[in-house]
Parts: sequence; C-alpha cells; structure tokens
Amino acid sequence: MESQKIPMSQWICPSILAADFTRLGDEVRNVIAAGADTIHFDVMDNHYVPNLSIGPLVLSSLRKAGIDACVDVHLMVKPVDRLVEDFLKAGADYITVHPESTEHLHKTLSMIHEGGAKAGLVFNPATPMDVLAEVIDIVDLVLIMSVNPGFGGQSFIPSSLNKLANAREQIDASGRDIRLQVDGGIKIENIGAAAKAGADAFVAGTAIFGAEDYAQTITAMRAEITGANA
Ligand code: DX5
Ligand code: ZN
Repeated sequence: MESQKIPMSQWICPSILAADFTRLGDEVRNVIAAGADTIHFDVMDNHYVPNLSIGPLVLSSLRKAGIDACVDVHLMVKPVDRLVEDFLKAGADYITVHPESTEHLHKTLSMIHEGGAKAGLVFNPATPMDVLAEVIDIVDLVLIMSVNPGFGGQSFIPSSLNKLANAREQIDASGRDIRLQVDGGIKIENIGAAAKAGADAFVAGTAIFGAEDYAQTITAMRAEITGANA
C-alpha cells in the first residue's frame, strides 16, 4: 500500500454505488478532480445484504486504468475472508468488514494488515459497539452505518449520532490514529451533525453522484463540516 496517498484532515468519500456504471472510470476521475479524498467501494453479495453490486474485478480494472486514489472497500458479504484476499490483490487501501460476517474477527482484521492494507470495522444501526474494545489495537477505521446496509438513497437514522459519539470516545481513549467514518443518507443538510458527533470521514453516494456539480457539493459539505467543528 502507498501510504502517501492517504489524505489528511476530514475525508469526503463518494460511494460509487450511486455512480453511472456505464462510465465508471470517468465518474471516479471526475469525483477525485472535484475534491474527493477516498473512493468508497460498496460490495454486496445478496446474502449478507439483499442486494448485489460489484466485485474485485471492477477495482482491478480501475487500478489498470491508472486510478491510484485511496480506495476504501466496504465488504457487505458473508463469509468475508476469501473476498478480503481478492480485494488485497485488487489494490484496496482500506478494507472494512462487519463483525457479523466472520466467525473470527481478529483473524480477518489481521489478514487485512498482513496483506498490506488498513483494516476497518463497521457497525450496523443495531449492532452493539462492545466488540470494538476487543480489537481497537488492530483497527484503523471505524465505520458507523447510518442506514441499514444494502441500498443507497435511504434516510439517515438519527440514533447513529449516539453511536458516532460512543465510537469517538473509544477512539480518543485508545490514543490511536483511527478514522471515524459514517455511511448512509449523508447530505449537505446533515453532514454537520455527523461531524459534531465525532465523524471525520463521510460517505455520500446519491448526494454527490446525484448532483449536477460534484465539486460544488463536496465544497458545500466541507463548509458544513468546518462550521460544525468551529
Ligand atoms: C449502503 C452503502 C452506502 C450507500 C450510501 O449499504 O454502504 O455506502 O451506498 O449511499 P447514500 O449516500 O445514497 O445513502
Ligand atoms: Zn458503504
């Protein structure tokens, strides 16, 4: 992994689930040019979640096409270990897994590190946060789902703000360099509340790819984050 491409400060992470897949390479290039920090790559298997999306071949194609931006892969698949290996080979920078998707979470997170990527752990709206304490020493990113995973375009679940605050406390207490990402229903109108609750990485699918002007949307999101943190 080329760590120099991992951005600093607050991250905007467009989810390509909402991109135009007939022009995916251009969509990714455009959103990077518009100021995106990471590309959020949603992988769904019609088993762990009731939807089917994209696999490692698509990431390999983007890499072969010269796209070297930081890519954070969100695996909504069960079982997960086989696909972790495939996404390491395909060039993922971050790989984020759900605790429900593996029998041996410590092993799965360790596999991600051994493969040279950063490891993320993701919590659904009703998943208790207690497992975080057990693995916080080997986690580089905590993702709080603010919708139930499976589909883009859903509404933000307000109780996610409590989960973000809980995660922020645990991260700060650990003293480790861990990103706190939020995913689902994020838009200009609510991104400030997520920032106030402690998030420093913001996934947005429809709010960015559904907009006319990606740069204007990303800039407006950053202004809201800055305002919330002021
Ligand atoms: C949902 C995915 C999200 C989704 C976000 O399962 O993990 O990343 O694509 O899309 P929006 O921003 O439209 O809620
Ligand atoms: Zn996601």
